[in-house]
Amino acid sequence: MTNYESFIRGLPKAELHMHIEGSLEPRMMFDLAARNGLKLRWGSPSELQAAYQFTNLQSFLDLYYEGCRVLIHEQDFYDVTAAYLRRAKQDGVIRAELLIGPQSFTTRGVGIETVMNGVLRAIEDARHDLAISSGLIVTAQRHRTEADAMLLLDQIMPWSDRILGIGMGGAEVGNPPSKFVNFFRACRDRGFRITIHAGEEGPASYVREAVELLRVDRIDHGNSCLADPELVAEIVRRKLALTVCPLSNLRLKGVPSLEQHPLRALINAGLHVTVNSDDPSYFGGYVSENLIECQRALDLSLNDVVDLARNGFTAAFISPDERDKALASIDSYVAAFRM
Ligand code: HPA
Ligand code: ZN
Repeated sequence: MTNYESFIRGLPKAELHMHIEGSLEPRMMFDLAARNGLKLRWGSPSELQAAYQFTNLQSFLDLYYEGCRVLIHEQDFYDVTAAYLRRAKQDGVIRAELLIGPQSFTTRGVGIETVMNGVLRAIEDARHDLAISSGLIVTAQRHRTEADAMLLLDQIMPWSDRILGIGMGGAEVGNPPSKFVNFFRACRDRGFRITIHAGEEGPASYVREAVELLRVDRIDHGNSCLADPELVAEIVRRKLALTVCPLSNLRLKGVPSLEQHPLRALINAGLHVTVNSDDPSYFGGYVSENLIECQRALDLSLNDVVDLARNGFTAAFISPDERDKALASIDSYVAAFRM
């Protein structure tokens, strides 16, 4: 292990953008399929893994939604969430904000309570058993209608005090943030923080809509904002963080190589950038691998890496007290580490 690698693995980190469904490892997908009496169209976990060759976001989403079929019972949602949190703990993550998109399940007849109770129980157990702080962001799917999103919002209200915020994922191009103005207004009216995937494959105008029309609290991805310098200035002025996912962008062909990833340009533009794994099982890395590979490809300095980790905590939906303790833990770690 290089010095940078061991430094990054041990560095206290926050992960703000990961989809629980996207942390389903091939082995677990096979185990859950067997447990639930389902047959997968791949012969083995390694055959499934070999199918992870994506050409764009949609080619990934097709496989990701297919994988979601193995999650049926409350225990399945518990197990996949608990497995991610155990892995995150080993990875030095002390704060995780997890996304889940219940519509993949509820539209197939799985009860909303099955999804919510399984995930929230794993989050609660991890707080006790692993001392990892985590919370849930419920996402709606943008290829569905605004009425579908409103229905989801109604369904999750019984758990509202245990939900960090509401987000949105799915096929971006053709489904701009402006399609969901009323939905996000309703989320705000009910007291939820809001985030949306924007500028992953979509243009800067989608990021502008997220900022100006939806008035989001955080932007998931956001890469394409760089094409609009006035928008960048506005995002900086509003102190909105971007949850950037470099290995995701690489695997979904948003960038031709990590060396050409806009992470450095986003940082240089003064944006509040965080690094995250998105769908770690599908994209070949958890948050540490994202930081390690970016450090190498973009020649990030130790200070750059530490700033990215600090940004994770300042952008997290946590109390000032939890934030200050996390930042102090970074300071002590850096002071004690010998490069
Ligand atoms: N983009 C949009 N939707 C998603 C993603 C993503 O990267 N991952 C899971 N759902
Ligand atoms: Zn995502």
